Amino acid sequence: MQARGLLMVEHRLIERMIWLIRDALGQIESTHEVDPIFVDTAVDFIRMYADRTHHGKEEDILFRDLSKRPLSAEDQRVMSELIEEHVFGRETTRALVNANTRYRTGDESALAEITSRLHTLVEFYPKHIEKEDKIFFPASRAYFTGEEDQAMLAEFWEFDRKMIHEKYKSVVEDLKKRL
Ligand SMILES: [Fe+2]
Ligand SMILES: [Fe+2]
Repeated sequence: MQARGLLMVEHRLIERMIWLIRDALGQIESTHEVDPIFVDTAVDFIRMYADRTHHGKEEDILFRDLSKRPLSAEDQRVMSELIEEHVFGRETTRALVNANTRYRTGDESALAEITSRLHTLVEFYPKHIEKEDKIFFPASRAYFTGEEDQAMLAEFWEFDRKMIHEKYKSVVEDLKKRL
């Protein structure tokens, strides 16, 4: 497998979560209520998997290595756009968490905010993923030899290996803060 293959496999799981959120949005809009635990679960997936694990490999490994190469102006522009989109995804998720907290504590006006942020995520992720799968990943592959690509894949696996420990360390630390 090429290094980008692993990122593309992850895209497929992110898409499945996005479709679930899209289905849930239909329900939220017809019932005018949301299950805050559904939002928690979607947020955990987006933060831990889509952002930390997946965008983490893109930014900390792929983009890091690409930034040392003589990128064409177009590839440089797309990479900057992708980085900005990751930031936008984080900001949207943060706003969703805040709205979910307000909703949970009885503020029903937060429902509109939750709905709008979920819509944003549902629209944003597929476009971001398509840009990477169809444009940026094929273009960026040309900057690496086969050997360099395989070294990157090995670094991706090592990055993933640490994630489960990071995740559950954070669960313990967050719980400790609340006690
Ligand atoms: Fe990305
Ligand atoms: Fe991606």
